[in-house]
Amino acid sequence: MGFKKMSAEEAAGLINNNDIIGFSGFTAAGCPKAITCELGKRAEAAHEAGQPFKVGIYTGASTGDSIDGVLARAHAIAFRSPYQSNKDLRAELNSHGAHYFDLHLSELPQYLRYGFLPKANIAILEASDITDDGKVYLTSGVGIAPTVARLADKIFIELNAYHPKHLKGIHDIYEPADPPYRKEIPVYSPSNRIGTPYIQVDPAKIVGIVETNLPNEVGGFTPSDEVTNKIGQNVADFLSSEMKAGRIPASFLPVQSGVGNVANAVLGAMGANPDIPSFEVYTEVIQDSVIDLMKSGNVKFASGCSLTLSTEALEEVYGNLDFFKEKLLLRPQEISNSPEIARRLGLISINTALEADIFGNINSTHVVGTKMMNGIGGSGDFCRNAFLSIFTTPATAKNGKISSIVPMVSHVDHSEHSVKILITEHGVADLRGLSPVQRAERIIENCVDPEYKPLLKEYLQLGQKGHTPQNMSAALAFHDVFNKTGDMRKIDWNMYK
Ligand code: COA
Repeated sequence: MGFKKMSAEEAAGLINNNDIIGFSGFTAAGCPKAITCELGKRAEAAHEAGQPFKVGIYTGASTGDSIDGVLARAHAIAFRSPYQSNKDLRAELNSHGAHYFDLHLSELPQYLRYGFLPKANIAILEASDITDDGKVYLTSGVGIAPTVARLADKIFIELNAYHPKHLKGIHDIYEPADPPYRKEIPVYSPSNRIGTPYIQVDPAKIVGIVETNLPNEVGGFTPSDEVTNKIGQNVADFLSSEMKAGRIPASFLPVQSGVGNVANAVLGAMGANPDIPSFEVYTEVIQDSVIDLMKSGNVKFASGCSLTLSTEALEEVYGNLDFFKEKLLLRPQEISNSPEIARRLGLISINTALEADIFGNINSTHVVGTKMMNGIGGSGDFCRNAFLSIFTTPATAKNGKISSIVPMVSHVDHSEHSVKILITEHGVADLRGLSPVQRAERIIENCVDPEYKPLLKEYLQLGQKGHTPQNMSAALAFHDVFNKTGDMRKIDWNMYK
């Protein structure tokens, strides 16, 4: 190989204050891990010497601790987009130590190409292999890698021997042209391949290769519990009733499923439901449950942006690549999350809300209206354009002190126009074709926790006249009471009568 090999420390030494870095990967899968650990040390040393050291960071989605955790703890992040889920970075963003712009994940690559955002002058890519003429084969996640590799002036490659070279062929790299030259993205089924199995980069831009052998930093999953299992069951039962009613074709439709434990439980319940046929997945994050369903024959094919798998599941996939490579495909997020493709394929999209309101608006991001949790991720890419858009949430949080269903969401990510079905452990509210007041009655009846039902019914009576009967003095009273007492159940509506 003709490229210069260097240590992670040497590579970090070539990155300067105010540089802007674009990383490969999506979630912790496929993210570089070595150079940023050294960069964190550099930033700390600079700060101790009284010098500034911060970089701007673009990624596919969240990252492993070696990017977001290390650099947040070193106070080395000037700005960050489009998504994160690291507790130290969350603290940094919420205290304004770093600026964060939360973006629909499908939009970031084109925003970078359009020049809407500051240019990433450096790209750091994790690769399983590279050729002398600059063909870069990625690892278990793609994200924004093709775009930042093309736009950046300097490229560092972390060549990670943990990932087998036999992964070649799992990726399908494609970048759409920009308007006015853009054409349809020719994906008509989840398994369609439209690009190349590698990213072609200009070899002259490759500054150095850092050799590593590091596993992914994907966190463990909390085992499913009674609540998540019941939510999963309710989703599966609802989808099976939609099939029986002829609203979902007998051959079924491709499924997009969000991140986390509810998503794993939902897919598990769908696999266990004998009425749901073997289906395809068109999603951003391929989690453990998809691999389990592939083994049992319930999932025929999965297209995504990353293999966000536990170490055991990833090693199982790597150990049986001949079986799995025929059934898995990894795309850039611009394609895995493309609104055009979501609408064309007719996705059944299932995402998790932090909070919903009785009129069907969703807050996916802001805890009690102010603190950023993670970000909007791909939920907006999918829900606005899906065939059927489902949101799930446990009916309460913090041992019942918070109702996840409130009079008015404290922050809006998805409006009532994009949300078709709301599902909690208590039941399903099908909101299609309902007026605001009908939606409120159905959500309160079917989805709200029994302790909060009378409180929300009472709120609806307080509503002022109008199409959407909100009470402008009391709409955020649940949140106000929670902030003051730590328990939404302490609400006293008499104060607003
Ligand atoms: N108000 C305040 N806090 C709440 C809350 C509410 N209404 N609902 C939940 N929480 C708290 C929980 O108590 C928990 O707190 P903890 O971390 O201190 O334990 C935390 O929020 C996470 O809740 P949990 O039930 O564990 O949620 P989750 O892991 O299923 O994640 C989201 C839920 C909404 C945060 C997550 O799905 C997300 O980031 N979504 C946005 C991006 C997205 O949808 N991507 C998928 C597109 S493919």
